[in-house]
Amino acid sequence: MTKPPIGGNRTGRKLGQKVKKGKLKASSRRWLERHINDPYVQRARLEGYRARAAFKLLEIDEKHHILKGAKRIIDLGAAPGSWSQIAANVTGSTDDDIRVAAIDFLEMTQLPGVKILQLDFLDPEAPRLLIEAVGGTPDVVISDMAAPTTGHQKTDHIRTMHLCEVAAHFAIEVLAEGGHFLAKTFQGGTERDLLNLLKQNFRQVVHIKPGSSRAESVEMFLLAKGFKGRKAAASKDGDAREDEANDAEARDEREIAGE
Ligand SMILES: C[S@@+](CC[C@H](N)C(=O)[O-])C[C@H]1O[C@@H](n2cnc3c(N)ncnc32)[C@H](O)[C@@H]1O
Repeated sequence: MTKPPIGGNRTGRKLGQKVKKGKLKASSRRWLERHINDPYVQRARLEGYRARAAFKLLEIDEKHHILKGAKRIIDLGAAPGSWSQIAANVTGSTDDDIRVAAIDFLEMTQLPGVKILQLDFLDPEAPRLLIEAVGGTPDVVISDMAAPTTGHQKTDHIRTMHLCEVAAHFAIEVLAEGGHFLAKTFQGGTERDLLNLLKQNFRQVVHIKPGSSRAESVEMFLLAKGFKGRKAAASKDGDAREDEANDAEARDEREIAGE
């Protein structure tokens, strides 16, 4: 497992810093304190990643080897860009030979080797533009998309689950055989229909809570490994698919860091 960073001394900053009481609301002050004292935030700064989210992908990859040998990667909900940084690195993507396409409706600072689309992934044009941008069939589709929070937990949950579902359909439509799909989901939140769809189309489906994902967050990741290919899935009749989904149920594992 990717080791959690220890203490704050590697970055030259001490952990346990307090933010002075002033104009900030108490909740904002608590958020800021947690952020500046978060060892993963400090480590991201030290290692040149744009976000602490980098360590979630690195941790998942360390165990599941989904990035090794990947030639093309599509990154959904990519801003500020730490997953794209990793993707560009593993694919050897350069501006002359782009192998990573990233999409976010937020503006994202340019990254070498990454074609950035500033667009809603739910826009009907997004799938075509992403495939054009990555220049060929992707081996890996990664999605860290989370719907903007409304303050109403159930609504936020439903919206993020919808993004996960649309991303899964996209992955099944575009991935190369043997490819992988990783997406943010919520604890206990993955719909049975979506799980069955993934189990029909991939060799293994796993729920993962990386150690670098905040314990208090309900976020989890859904990893579908080893895409069986569009022909294989299309040639099965309904009964066979159901049997397979039932068999695969045994392989729907959960990995919680530290357990
Ligand atoms: C947790 S952040 C991603 C962090 C990123 N993985 C990184 O390493 O820097 C989630 C992102 O999903 C984006 N997002 C949410 N819904 C989206 C949508 N419908 N289309 C495009 N991006 C979306 C948000 O704008 C946000 O930037």
